[in-house]
Amino acid sequence: MDFKEKLKLYQQMINQELEKHIRKEKCLEEILNKSVEYSLMAGGKRLRPILVIATYQIFKQDIQKCMPYAVAIEMTHNFSLIHDDLPGIDNDDFRHGKPTNHKQFNEATAILAGDSLLNNSYIIISEDLKNTQDSEELQRKIRIFNEFSEAIDKMLVGEYVDTEYEGKNITKEDLEYIHQNKTGALLKLCVRMGAILANCKEKDLEKLTSYADKIGLAFQIKDDILSEEGNEEILGKPVGNDKELGKCTYVSEYGLQGAKEILDKITKEAIEELEEYGEKAEFLRELAIYIQNRNK
Ligand code: IPE
Ligand code: IPE
Ligand code: MG
Ligand code: MG
Repeated sequence: MDFKEKLKLYQQMINQELEKHIRKEKCLEEILNKSVEYSLMAGGKRLRPILVIATYQIFKQDIQKCMPYAVAIEMTHNFSLIHDDLPGIDNDDFRHGKPTNHKQFNEATAILAGDSLLNNSYIIISEDLKNTQDSEELQRKIRIFNEFSEAIDKMLVGEYVDTEYEGKNITKEDLEYIHQNKTGALLKLCVRMGAILANCKEKDLEKLTSYADKIGLAFQIKDDILSEEGNEEILGKPVGNDKELGKCTYVSEYGLQGAKEILDKITKEAIEELEEYGEKAEFLRELAIYIQNRNK
């Protein structure tokens, strides 16, 4: 099976898993539930849950163990997107080729749909903790729970600094700080969750974390590049919005060519981190290249 087919299979599996968490019953908050479904099932790439599972699969194959964490991180990611698009943050009207949540529903609903997704990710993880009998496995999951919460905190910090420093001059270090927090932290978390769930050695965890750090930064640099020269129809979200808001990005700091060179360099470095895992890490290698070359 080639990379594209494998990616599609993972996406289908995750979509099926997410579907199970959509509330469809008639109730007073029916529209809130619909707005959660609207964003969660809108066609995201599912990169974060895929990272959890593909990292786990370097070591183990019983991937059902990953599902609560895969679902939780995708929910949290969608919370971050709904709030990122709000008028008070990026004020964007399109995401996944459709009106953003607050445009389709209203601001109050969008804020609460985001809150609901975040809170449900905690519900799902805590349910899994409750149902874990083996004490060593439970310890590992508590470690993950802690890292999950810390990573979300970093994402919020990144979103704050990103918004606060619109139109202002910042250093290259500050820019890296924004990217590592707003985007890198959750992507790093995904790899670490997969690795810790698989009970890998600390040495492997370090190596994989280093891979994750690099693809996390690469992912946001590519997002910056796409905001400059992407195709709006393929992307399903606006192009040129970073520039319009005076966002500090790798393109504003290094220019388009400079940003591309950094992207190529760190993608190569990310792949090097996987050397010792041979065939088992082939998918993660190809995923780094996919992140580098993606057009959506
Ligand atoms: C977009 O993330 C927001 C960033 C962190 C840059 P994705 O590109 O992974 O979002 P999906 O694929 O639409 O869910
Ligand atoms: C989004 O960053 C990061 C989070 C949602 C945490 P951006 O604002 O750069 O991403 P897009 O371009 O809107 O997807
Ligand atoms: Mg933003
Ligand atoms: Mg945005």
